[in-house]
Amino acid sequence: MAVVTNEVIRWGILATGKIAHAFARDLLLVPDAELVAVGSRRLPSAEAFAAQYGEGVRAYGSYEDLVADPDVDVIYIATPHAFHLENARLAFEGGKHVLCEKPLTLSVADSEEMIALAGQHGRFLMEAMWTACHPGVRALQRRLAAGEFGVPAHVHAELGFVVQAAADDRMLDPDLGAGALLDMGIYPLTFAHLMLGEATSLTAQADLHVTPGTASGKEGAIDMAIAMTGAYAGGALATMHASMRSWTTSAAAIATDRGRIEVPEFHHPSRITFTPKATMADWTADAGPLEPIEIEPDEPVIGSGYGNEAAEVNRCLRAGLLESPLVPHSQTLTLMRQMEEIRRQTGIRYPGE
Ligand SMILES: NC(=O)c1ccc[n+]([C@@H]2O[C@H](COP(=O)([O-])OP(=O)(O)OC[C@H]3O[C@@H](n4cnc5c(N)ncnc54)[C@H](OP(=O)(O)O)[C@@H]3O)[C@@H](O)[C@H]2O)c1
Repeated sequence: MAVVTNEVIRWGILATGKIAHAFARDLLLVPDAELVAVGSRRLPSAEAFAAQYGEGVRAYGSYEDLVADPDVDVIYIATPHAFHLENARLAFEGGKHVLCEKPLTLSVADSEEMIALAGQHGRFLMEAMWTACHPGVRALQRRLAAGEFGVPAHVHAELGFVVQAAADDRMLDPDLGAGALLDMGIYPLTFAHLMLGEATSLTAQADLHVTPGTASGKEGAIDMAIAMTGAYAGGALATMHASMRSWTTSAAAIATDRGRIEVPEFHHPSRITFTPKATMADWTADAGPLEPIEIEPDEPVIGSGYGNEAAEVNRCLRAGLLESPLVPHSQTLTLMRQMEEIRRQTGIRYPGE
């Protein structure tokens, strides 16, 4: 792949939904990035989006027109999961690098195909797993691995909220890849993976909702909530939960043999603390309670944290990399395989499967 040497990396955003807006807001804060163009299925939607993020952002009424813009280096794909593969194919055929929203695709086979396409076209590809690019999460991962907080024995992570949406919303429509696992469960699974390494086994229970896809009319079985357990090297365990029908804490905690790490809003934390526990060896009669220690991020958080994933893409493009060491293809595939195994165990299936 040719190294991108422009003074600024020129971005195009494919789709104009909720996450596209959140990403665009943060992209404006990344020093060597410029939002050049946006593409939507409907021109008025692209025009309204472009107008919000600065003068001169080009608006296209189709994804095809967006990827044909010669002034765009990299495309951010922000459509529902079911369309990521076809959108990425379009972008690669247009000669673009790709940052693609999570989950990369619905199935392992489709993710493998997307990664193979990136390779055939010699283009960079990264799943937009912003948690893995977050400076706070990275600091925790590095210091935990170095043994600073003891040996981790248990990770708990949960993410969920009550989804109130129309049946054709991507959160509820099986044609669009709906379900708690792929939308939210990917975060607790990723957090456990980042902190404990690859799971040696996973088990799961799901609350299934059987419903037809609005476009296909074919039945799917999507998970409204999912509870998972994982086993990891050294006897470490994880409990993980994701839900579209209840309010969870959105927090993670790591219990080690020396104390406890608390990570509120674990997929983009603004504060991480380690509270050491006294052991018999360091206990003295006059010792007061042990104070929590703040775990500081390695570098500033850009915006909500989406800015850090964009900055990581820019860094990789300047270095001529085809994948990011923070979200390597192998890690994306490992998580996709885990979710496929969980889908198999629980009976989650999409129309036509
Ligand atoms: N990283 C994160 O924190 C985060 C947060 C939320 C979501 N996500 C991921 O981002 C992706 C999009 O989520 P979102 O919440 O932004 O969804 P959304 O609000 O429904 O927006 C999706 C956009 O995709 C385009 N689209 C193309 N074909 C579509 C179809 N048949 N039905 C609906 N929309 C279609 C539409 O844009 P146009 O009309 O402009 O073409 C639409 O606005 C998902 O894969 C999700 O997992 C990530």
